[in-house]
Amino acid sequence: MTKGESDLSFSLCHQYLAFSSFLRYDVYVCPELPYPTREQILDKISGVDGVYWCCKEKVDKEMLDKAGQNLKVVSTMSAGFDHIDVQELKKRGIKFGHTPNVLNSAVAEIAVLLCLATARRLHEGRLKIETNTWEISGPQWFMGQDIQGSTVGIVGFGGIGQAIAKRLIAFDVGQLIYSGHSPKPQAKELGAEFVSFDELLKRSDFVIIVCPLNEETKEMFNEAAFNKMKPNAILVNVARGGIVDQPALIEALKQGKIFGAGLDVMTPEPLPTDSPLLSLPNCVLLPHVGSATIKTRTAMAILAAENLIAGLEGTPMPAPF
Ligand code: DGY
Repeated sequence: MTKGESDLSFSLCHQYLAFSSFLRYDVYVCPELPYPTREQILDKISGVDGVYWCCKEKVDKEMLDKAGQNLKVVSTMSAGFDHIDVQELKKRGIKFGHTPNVLNSAVAEIAVLLCLATARRLHEGRLKIETNTWEISGPQWFMGQDIQGSTVGIVGFGGIGQAIAKRLIAFDVGQLIYSGHSPKPQAKELGAEFVSFDELLKRSDFVIIVCPLNEETKEMFNEAAFNKMKPNAILVNVARGGIVDQPALIEALKQGKIFGAGLDVMTPEPLPTDSPLLSLPNCVLLPHVGSATIKTRTAMAILAAENLIAGLEGTPMPAPF
């Protein structure tokens, strides 16, 4: 977001929080700008009733101990919450809200963008022009992959996964398959088939990661997984970097085990400028901007504020977890 755009989300959230302070609650909004260090956050969080969280800093035992007994609610302005120790919140009876669904379209659009950009070698094409290596002979030069007719595998078929499927159907995909814990009733009308993770890896031309990061999904895309994928396969990750074993992905891309990767998320974030990912022509990178549109971030800011106020007031949160 530009500064003006980020100010918009922040000012909306501050308007809501002005309302909560009218209700005489002590609320900590993280981050304030400029971005604080963890030590500064720990200092400021002490004694608050509620926390409005729009950063990736961990809310763990240390943070909760520091907040102390008054803390009644934690509200994160994100759909994912791998940075928040939800079990510990539950144990302490602290309410927790997040912002699912309002970002489905924006993240789905980024997933489609990465499918197209990786399949048609967007980054590499730009490099060809910049380095004066644009070849003018040969009809087989610089060929990419089609979405049309392809098998698309979606790992995690929740709201975002389904929104991606809806959009890719318009590209005339051949088959839609998905994996997860159990079949989803919504899959039928999208014509999507439930398969095991292994089968998805073996059959897909596009593999799109949309599942949450947790103990079960951590680095599930490892060397063994890449060995099962097709050499023409494209990996797109719009979920969390930790779901992919990044060194194994880098090797797979270098050795041509898969065709390419389009990543909105990686490890760590921000990615260091000397990361080998940046020197791979078959890797398209974005700086974790899946939900970063003015409309979506505003909707997230409002929902997070509503969750917080409801939690403080003891009324039902619109989006509890
Ligand atoms: C989310 O909401 O989880 C997005 O990844 C933005 O952090």
